[in-house]
Amino acid sequence: MLTRLEVDGFKNLLDLAVELGPFTCIAGENGTGKSNVFDAIQFLSLLADRSLMEAAQEVRGTHGERHGDARDLFWNGYDRGTHRMRFAAETLVSPEAVEDDFGRPAVPTTSFLRYELELGYQPPKGAEKIGRLSLLHESLRHIKQGDARARLRFPHSKARFRDAVVTGRRSGVSYISTTVEGTESVIRIHQDGGSRGPPRPAAASRARATVVSTVNTSGDPTILAVRREMQSWRRLALEPSALPAPAARGGHPRRSAGRRRRGTGGPGGTGPVPAAPGRLTAWLTAEG
Ligand SMILES: Nc1ncnc2c1ncn2[C@@H]1O[C@H](COP(=O)(O)OP(=O)(O)OP(=O)(O)O)[C@@H](O)[C@H]1O
Ligand SMILES: [Mg+2]
Repeated sequence: MLTRLEVDGFKNLLDLAVELGPFTCIAGENGTGKSNVFDAIQFLSLLADRSLMEAAQEVRGTHGERHGDARDLFWNGYDRGTHRMRFAAETLVSPEAVEDDFGRPAVPTTSFLRYELELGYQPPKGAEKIGRLSLLHESLRHIKQGDARARLRFPHSKARFRDAVVTGRRSGVSYISTTVEGTESVIRIHQDGGSRGPPRPAAASRARATVVSTVNTSGDPTILAVRREMQSWRRLALEPSALPAPAARGGHPRRSAGRRRRGTGGPGGTGPVPAAPGRLTAWLTAEG
């Protein structure tokens, strides 16, 4: 469950921080960036699943449909100057085992985590027609049990919720860290439950995908649990015309909705709800 999202430099979102609860409502005037918040969550989910460029291709761009140019996703990306987008996601992951790509169970060592990611832009080189996204920084660290109360901003019960979902301990070390060494950013995966040996370094500039998206075995159970959590973030789009109309004076909204839309999807219907991007959207976190 995503509990906090920070976005800076993605589309029109600058220095944005949103605290999320089990049900969060985002309201605002047209064109202020509500859908861009959902696009940012979708982008993070895609970045945990596939390459940087594939993820960028699937997100709604400045002009609605994607044109394939990664600059679309940066704040005023077609202007000259530095291109940087930064994301942070604080998330609860299931303390239960997740399955790795080989069907083996992986139990995270801690279940409340902060993931940070920074992406840049490399203009096209040689015969390339469009530029690329580049990985500048990636880190994953746990949030201590003692800090959980202040970090979970929605009302909840300590005994029945917090103590059940914020589990595990880890000494200071991150799961993923980035350090600048000379002119190069180096990303390391650190030892976790099943993995042994020294941290595994990789040069960020040559990465085609996030580190999280490349972890697929139970040897890195906590990174894998975060990956599975991010992959599970879903966007639902509800078709307003399929929703119950406001009740006429003295009328019964449920009955009239069922009559109008029977068999066509949406409330009272049986078919799928047709997507209407940009109309009315909600995020669900798949559980279990
Ligand atoms: N790459 C970008 N750089 C700067 N601004 C951008 C970029 N891409 C989109 N925008 C701006 O984002 C705004 C649209 O945001 P969004 O679609 O999230 O609005 P919304 O709040 O969902 O509106 P509505 O209520 O109409 O659905 C526009 O003002 C657009 O100019
Ligand atoms: Mg919108």
